[in-house]
Amino acid sequence: MRLQNPNQLVELSYVSRATQEMGLSSLIHLFDVSLKWNDAHALTGVLFYENGFFSQILEGPRVDVLEIWEKIQKDYRHQILRQLGFSEIQERSFPNWGLRFYGGDLIAKDVPHLSGLLDGIPDHDVELLQVMRSVADGSGEGK
Ligand SMILES: Cc1cc2nc3c(=O)[nH]c(=O)nc-3n(C[C@H](O)[C@H](O)[C@H](O)COP(=O)(O)O)c2cc1C
Repeated sequence: MRLQNPNQLVELSYVSRATQEMGLSSLIHLFDVSLKWNDAHALTGVLFYENGFFSQILEGPRVDVLEIWEKIQKDYRHQILRQLGFSEIQERSFPNWGLRFYGGDLIAKDVPHLSGLLDGIPDHDVELLQVMRSVADGSGEGK
């Protein structure tokens, strides 16, 4: 058995359905708490909220990503979580973002295509991930 390096950079992504419609203040609170933790644990990534669905890409040391993933899966604010991907990576796609957030107007402006994809339907997974990645630093589309 190969021992897994706890510090290996990994990327995890998922889609989930919000338990109830999230208001602006709830989203800001969620974002603030998350960013604080992510900054303290060298996690980076992006979080989308649209149509009552969340999707997120998280990247960082394996041990930290898995620790927060445990909590995220148990979070009462969403349900029907489905992991989109989990893989070892050589470099981060969002090195400058403890957590970049996209919702509402920003989605309409920068990634309008996401609206039709962020609906929890498995058929859309590959395309959804592609559009999520398109807002990454250094990526062409979505800028
Ligand atoms: C959609 C969604 C995304 C989240 N993303 C993060 C995140 O990136 N980082 C983080 O620390 N917490 C995130 N959280 C919050 C955690 O699930 C959890 O509430 C937080 O870590 C506090 O947990 P505790 O109260 O057990 O300490 C997210 C929650 C939701 C619903």
